[in-house]
Formats: sequence, C-alpha cells, structure tokens
Amino acid sequence: MNKIKTMLLVFIILVSSAVFSDESGADKRATIYLDDEERAIVLEEMRTFLSTIQKITQGIVADDMVQVSHAAKTMGNNASAGVSLSLIFKLPLGFKLLAADTHQKFDEIAIDASSFADREHALEQTSVLMKNCVSCHATYRIDLEED
Ligand code: HEC
Repeated sequence: MNKIKTMLLVFIILVSSAVFSDESGADKRATIYLDDEERAIVLEEMRTFLSTIQKITQGIVADDMVQVSHAAKTMGNNASAGVSLSLIFKLPLGFKLLAADTHQKFDEIAIDASSFADREHALEQTSVLMKNCVSCHATYRIDLEED
C-alpha cells in the first residue's frame, strides 16, 4: 500500500514539474503560468510583502514594537484568505509551501514583537523570513498563459 502511495506521489511530482517548468531560455527559473488577473493578484501581494518588510524594519529602527507587530500581523496567515481555488490549483506545491511558511513567519514576528518587544530578535526573525523571499525568487517566475 505504501509503495503505491510513494509511486503516486513521484508520478504527481513528475507531472507537475513537467507542467510548471519551462527552463529552455536563459532564465533557469521554473515558470508559473497565470492569467492576467491572477498574475496581478500575486504581484500585488508581493508588493505588499515588500512594503510590510519596510514597515517592520522602520519599526525596529524607531524601537516601535507596536508598529512592528501591527505591520507583521497584516501579512500573517489571515492575509491569504481571499485567494481563488483556480489560482491555488495553478501554483506549484513548492510555491504554496514557501508562501504558507512566509505568512507563518510574519505571524511569529507579530506575536513575538508584542510579547517580548525585543528589537534584536525581531531583526533576526526578519532576516530569516527574507531567506524565503530570496529562495522563492531564485526558483520561480510568472508568465502569462496563452489563450
Ligand atoms: C512563494 C514564492 C515567493 C515568496 C515567498 C516571495 N515571493 Fe516575491 N515574487 C515571487 C514571484 C514568482 C515573483 C514574480 C517574479 C518574476 O516573474 O520574475 C515575485 C515578485 C515579487 C516582486 C515584484 C512585484 C511586481 O510588481 O512586479 C516583489 C517586490 C516581491 N516579489 C517581493 C517579495 C518579498 C519582499 C518577499 C518576502 C517577504 C517575497 N516577495 C516573497 C514569488 C515569491
């Protein structure tokens, strides 16, 4: 029984990497194909990620841990609630896992900032969180699907 499950998993991974990666050009990242609206939703979330990181670092510099906590909270697990099923289906598993972990890490920054108000800790958490940004950007790119 377990063998069948493992084979099924390997099959799904092979099929999905065939669907999601198009590494033929100079850009070696895997391409995720989305429609115009879905791409705009993902990129808007990305720009919100960036402005949230800016607010967090600004809060750390100003020793305003309430600002750090509030900013981080806006990008926590509740932030991804409005994503459509069709978009969820098009995103590769690796992308979804990294995205979920990133929201989780924002929540941890929010909780710790309000519990401990420790700037150095918040800065370290932000640095670790940003490894997710770096790693996902090194792996995936988005392109418009053909219609
Ligand atoms: C789960 C994967 C993933 C994570 C995590 C992630 N990104 Fe992205 N991001 C992408 C992809 C894919 C693109 C599109 C890149 C492309 O098509 O070249 C993108 C694009 C962007 C853009 C450009 C937006 C635009 O309007 O063109 C910004 C800014 C950005 N990300 C910021 C961040 C920041 C800051 C973080 C971390 C807090 C982050 N991202 C985390 C996948 C991710």
